[in-house]
Amino acid sequence: MNHNVTNQIKVLSERTLFLKTEEDTISLGYDFAHLLKPGLVVWLNGDLGTGKTTFVRAMLRELGFSGPIKSPTYALVEVYVVSRLYLYHFDFYRFNEPWEFEDASLGEYFQKETICFVEWAEKAYPYVPTPDLIVVFKFSKKNAQGFASQGRILKFKAYSEAGQLCLSSFRNRESTDANY
Ligand SMILES: Nc1ncnc2c1ncn2[C@@H]1O[C@H](COP(=O)(O)OP(=O)(O)OP(=O)(O)O)[C@@H](O)[C@H]1O
Ligand SMILES: [Mg+2]
Repeated sequence: MNHNVTNQIKVLSERTLFLKTEEDTISLGYDFAHLLKPGLVVWLNGDLGTGKTTFVRAMLRELGFSGPIKSPTYALVEVYVVSRLYLYHFDFYRFNEPWEFEDASLGEYFQKETICFVEWAEKAYPYVPTPDLIVVFKFSKKNAQGFASQGRILKFKAYSEAGQLCLSSFRNRESTDANY
């Protein structure tokens, strides 16, 4: 099941980053926390263990949340109210059918004053609201020198003005077009 939202809506801009270590993913999460605006919907796509939850956890820490941050794999959604933001972290990995999203009335969480990060959004497609931004997490095959690496490649795709605004703030980060 790999629905490609790019078939439905247009990508406005793209950006690719190479994150060599877990610390890089965390540091990106810290930076991203400062870009969050109410209403933002971000899909975090990519295989198991590529760093989606690590990224969200870093954002929440930067926003000042000091409690436990669990993966929402079992609860479907974890709710955080922090720094005057309503941040919802979803994970639909366990869905067998996309309509389970409707069945659980999860659409109610997506409001203009809430921020939604969604892991495994494809499993709730087409019921899950379309994103402002998709971040695709991938294992990298090699690092810049061509040696085996445990790094990650993150591809950001903006689908709205709000998504584009987030991307433009990565201007100062080193990006990559190489075949990692
Ligand atoms: N840039 C990186 N380089 C190497 N390891 C990383 C990097 N970013 C994160 N990791 C590690 O990868 C693992 C990612 O786990 P995490 O739970 O965040 O993945 P996930 O994408 O949310 O997986 P799932 O789909 O199962 O929820 C963690 O052990 C983390 O330390
Ligand atoms: Mg996860």
